[in-house]
Amino acid sequence: MREPRISRLRGIAMGAPKANKTADFYTDAWGLEQVHEEKGAAYFRASGPEHHILSLHDREAQGLVYLNFAVQDQAGLAALHDKLKKGGATIVSGIAKLDTPGGGVGFETIDPDNRVLRISASVDRYPFAPDRPDVPRKITHVVLNTPQLETCLGFYENLLGFRISDWSENQMVFIRCNSDHHAISFNRAEHASVNHVAYELPTIDDEMCGIGRLKRMNVPVRWGVGRHGPGNNVFAYFTDPNSFVVEYTTEISQIDEATHEPQIWKRVPHLTDRWGTAGPPSPEIRKFMAGVPDPGYKG
Ligand SMILES: [Fe+2]
Repeated sequence: MREPRISRLRGIAMGAPKANKTADFYTDAWGLEQVHEEKGAAYFRASGPEHHILSLHDREAQGLVYLNFAVQDQAGLAALHDKLKKGGATIVSGIAKLDTPGGGVGFETIDPDNRVLRISASVDRYPFAPDRPDVPRKITHVVLNTPQLETCLGFYENLLGFRISDWSENQMVFIRCNSDHHAISFNRAEHASVNHVAYELPTIDDEMCGIGRLKRMNVPVRWGVGRHGPGNNVFAYFTDPNSFVVEYTTEISQIDEATHEPQIWKRVPHLTDRWGTAGPPSPEIRKFMAGVPDPGYKG
């Protein structure tokens, strides 16, 4: 049997004081659809088949609630659960039916930075969801700030089955769980937090139209538009009403497992901003990307 591993990033759950009340930004400006609301939480879907990709929770502390990953099926879920347990990971809730919208079966563990990871299978899908122009179809990657990059990388590689796609010098590592160049990237930093969450649009034209809609709604691009070196994706960064950094992206490179060789990319302008359109990130967006220390799992 193939080693059990994460098959894709479903999405993310984020918390901040009254974050659930910022739904209008995500529906009217960002292009998501609210699929569920309950006391203190709101759930959103994109145009793709995932039941929901984002949930916003009313929390005292600002930051990640959990990362939401999929495995292929329930046999894979059980195998990955056992592998984590044997590998010494803390299981904070065992395999059980999920009571979040979309149902399914899952468990939760914590990574070396004390982030909660929810791993699930058999969650409802929208199987015939066609792309809609100028709105996101999925969350394609999340960049995580970490004070212990190597330890986190080891956990995601050895226990969750991620593979290294590329490095940005010794500052960032990009890791994948399927053909997308990266689903997670770790960025060396002083504390653990979410650097940004990237939403994929179908085409460059759709991305530009989406940016136009945001501009008309007085949501300025804070960095971009540009094209990154590692992953070759088009980027434009914004901030949401909770001060979280969100990205519109498209054209992430697709990795061939049989032939791909990770590279170490130099952090020079023509390789981080290939078109030369974005320039370096401002001190302001860097501050938003650093965020505040994640609350982490409290037990
Ligand atoms: Fe990104």
